[in-house]
Amino acid sequence: MKPFLSNPRLLGLALWLAALVAFVAVSVETSRKRLADELEVTGRTLHRLISQRVAQHDAHLTTLIALSSGAEPAPDGAVRQVMESISRFYPRIAWLALVSLGGPEGAAGAQGASQPAGVTAGPAVRRDVDVPAGGGVDLAPLGGEIAAQVRGRPSVYAAGEGRYLLAKRAPEPSDHAVVLMIDAAKLVEPEERPDFANLRISLDGADLVDLPADASLGSGVSWLKPPHFEKVIDGEGQRLLLSLDRSLPLAALVPPGRLLGFAVVAGLLAAALSFGLGQRAAVKRSELAARAAEERAQLQERETRLAHASRVNAMGELASGIAHELTQPLTALLSRSQAALRLARAERPDMAMISEALGVNVREAKRAGEMLKRMRDYASNKAPERARQDLNAIVAEVVALTRTDLERRGVALVLELGEPAPEAVVDVIEMEQVLHNLIRNAAEAVGAGGVVTITTARAGREAKVVVSDDGSGIAAEVLPKLFTPFFTTKADGMGLGLSLCASLVERVDGRIGAENGVLRGARFTVTLPLAAGERGKGKG
Ligand SMILES: Nc1ncnc2c1ncn2[C@@H]1O[C@H](COP(=O)(O)OP(=O)(O)O)[C@@H](O)[C@H]1O
Ligand SMILES: [Mg+2]
Repeated sequence: MKPFLSNPRLLGLALWLAALVAFVAVSVETSRKRLADELEVTGRTLHRLISQRVAQHDAHLTTLIALSSGAEPAPDGAVRQVMESISRFYPRIAWLALVSLGGPEGAAGAQGASQPAGVTAGPAVRRDVDVPAGGGVDLAPLGGEIAAQVRGRPSVYAAGEGRYLLAKRAPEPSDHAVVLMIDAAKLVEPEERPDFANLRISLDGADLVDLPADASLGSGVSWLKPPHFEKVIDGEGQRLLLSLDRSLPLAALVPPGRLLGFAVVAGLLAAALSFGLGQRAAVKRSELAARAAEERAQLQERETRLAHASRVNAMGELASGIAHELTQPLTALLSRSQAALRLARAERPDMAMISEALGVNVREAKRAGEMLKRMRDYASNKAPERARQDLNAIVAEVVALTRTDLERRGVALVLELGEPAPEAVVDVIEMEQVLHNLIRNAAEAVGAGGVVTITTARAGREAKVVVSDDGSGIAAEVLPKLFTPFFTTKADGMGLGLSLCASLVERVDGRIGAENGVLRGARFTVTLPLAAGERGKGKG
């Protein structure tokens, strides 16, 4: 998670995707709710309208019952007129009829009437008045049920083809009923019909009306429960069920235009955020890098001081040997100078001999001067200066500095310098110090009579300087701790020599390793990158 979060681009992408998912989720939920609310509102409105219409039917029945019964019933002609005006004004009332519910004798009377009597048992039904005349359905099968109706309360009967009958019996003592046939589809005006929903009106579980939604709106998604509205229209015995169903097409849930707009805006924001985070991370990285570089510089500076202190210290140890080494040229200088002086004071000075003596003196003095310069350089506190150097020459310098010391310890020194000399980019003094430390450790390990060997070689793209000895070697448990600061097995050791060697070598991208010799003794290998242009020049 960490590397993922620390990558501003991935983070931006993740945030963008998360924002899109959230947008889709919110959009789906709000759209679903809006569409469901819309359906609910439409459903309630339709329910109210249909209820009002249905209530009117009852009012018509009541009017017609009142007209046709009572102490002074209106003549059939007047009833027909009222029926005709109702039929004109209310097209949904497909047929109106005033029927007599006779006993079996009524049925006999019906034989002669325009309508054949029902074959089923029960009272016969005779149409006294109907509008349009002769229309409607055969009421004979319903005669029994209508006759059994409670007076004054309308009842509903299915009439097929999306129509239903509404019948009401007149109060006692009259024995007739008024029947309306309603075209259920016309309970809803065309302009009131919602195109987005499937509208159904059913009676006792059978659909009277089933108007499908506009197909061009598309089919709904399967993973959401589509909104549904359902309410009973309970208008005076007309128990109709109004139901509306709406599908949820994806385009309605997540409008593509809005999604695209949101994606663009969110994408821009995420890009800006990731850019900002990237900038911040870059600043932080460069700050960290600067701090690390500063710490490294401080550490190097401390090591440089330590290296210097260590060289000054070593110089003290080398001093007596070097002083001894200088005594010889000085003695020689003195005696040869005295001889030359004597020759010069002769009556006829032998100029050839004088100049030869002086020539030798100059060489001796130069050698002594070089030795002193070497010492001064080695103990100097100059800032390290890396340049391309001949490693064989560096070995020679160190040998010059330490030769007397090794002689005094009784340690023999063997040089195996590879030709052509390997070259590496190093600071001369630092590299001398590395070799000096290794030579001194080796000399301490072998003691009098031992041999220390220095080898230089090229190996591929690397230069190797190996300091090996024929001492007791390194114990297995000591090997891993050699380069740890302050690790020493010597009573008077500081344990800083090898750790300093490692730091100095690593500064120039080199490395140092220790192992035991094949037969005996220890073997320290300094590996350095060959100076550019040296590579591939053949193996040393
Ligand atoms: N040539 C060697 N042969 C055997 N042991 C060695 C050799 N060089 C170094 N060591 C071991 O490594 C230890 C650490 O060396 P160094 O860091 O130079 O510190 P010091 O010389 O002060 O002990 C030495 O004490 C010694 O045990
Ligand atoms: Mg040491």
